Amino acid sequence: MVTTPLLPSDYLDLVSPLRAGADLRGRIEAVHPETGDAATLVIRPGRGWRGHAAGQYVRIGVDVDGRRLWRSYSLTSPPHRRDGRITITVKAIPGGKVSNHLVRRAKPGTLVQLDQATGDFVLPQTKPAKVLYLTAGSGITPVMSMLRDIALDDVVMIHCAPQPQDVIFRKELHGLVADGRLRLTEVHTDADGRLDLARLDELVPDWAERETWACGPAGLLDAAEELWSAHGVRERLHTERFRPGTVVAGDGGDGGGGGEVTFSTTGKTVDADGATPLLDVGEEAGVLMPSGCRMGICFGCVTPLREGAVRDLRTGEITEAAPGVLIQTCVSAAAGPCDIER
Ligand code: FES
Repeated sequence: MVTTPLLPSDYLDLVSPLRAGADLRGRIEAVHPETGDAATLVIRPGRGWRGHAAGQYVRIGVDVDGRRLWRSYSLTSPPHRRDGRITITVKAIPGGKVSNHLVRRAKPGTLVQLDQATGDFVLPQTKPAKVLYLTAGSGITPVMSMLRDIALDDVVMIHCAPQPQDVIFRKELHGLVADGRLRLTEVHTDADGRLDLARLDELVPDWAERETWACGPAGLLDAAEELWSAHGVRERLHTERFRPGTVVAGDGGDGGGGGEVTFSTTGKTVDADGATPLLDVGEEAGVLMPSGCRMGICFGCVTPLREGAVRDLRTGEITEAAPGVLIQTCVSAAAGPCDIER
């Protein structure tokens, strides 16, 4: 039998896992259900935590069925909470290993790995005079941290969710409305259909004058970018793109059906659908895949595409292999057979 000698830090980890100098970890101290499929996790970060700005996200590493998996979540707590704890609010997505684990099975006392907070979806130093938040689904999470951080004078929010009971933080939002700190329009997409930005003039007549933070599915953000550009106010729009977690296989039209993926360096070949990120496909197959934010921001997962084609899960765009072509595996799925250099 081969044993690994334990280092002094291993013993210290047992008694004081959140100490300064240890790998950055956090301890889940409470789990509060928010909606039927979302929960807020209250985490006490270790001594090395450097804090965050409202709107940033954090990567957390969780052990699920014996494997460490990393995902990024927006921080929903305001910076500098007096008790030093942070919160993330997680929505369980169908088939999402980590999100379902965190929402339904995470227990107080559990340790998670943490990275430092990052991201530039934040408010500027100088408070903007008029703000619009445009959010859908769990896109509300980074904005919630902003709302909880500083009171702005003139804030309007449009938030989309299938039904009223799916609106995360609904009670708190309505409290802000009652206090006169927020004007809120909820769009319930099951009844009203998707938000058509042509309605913006009617909902928020002065939208073009507002500094806007938008977070939600790619379709909404693409439409917003187009509209803001057409009005010459693109620089007032700040967007944060989440990796789509609920794309249905075959959804993307051409090539949406996936294909056989070869990881040529490792010599593994597996079948992949057209909706699962190649990063997940590789990890599932036991291939060592580099990664970072897992949501298309950090480029930590970039890998050469040797053959075949992949589809960008955010835009539907197809990229075909050619010498020098690199893909972000966290936001790309197989669009037919392909060969990834891993
Ligand atoms: S892991 Fe960050 S861009 Fe893919």
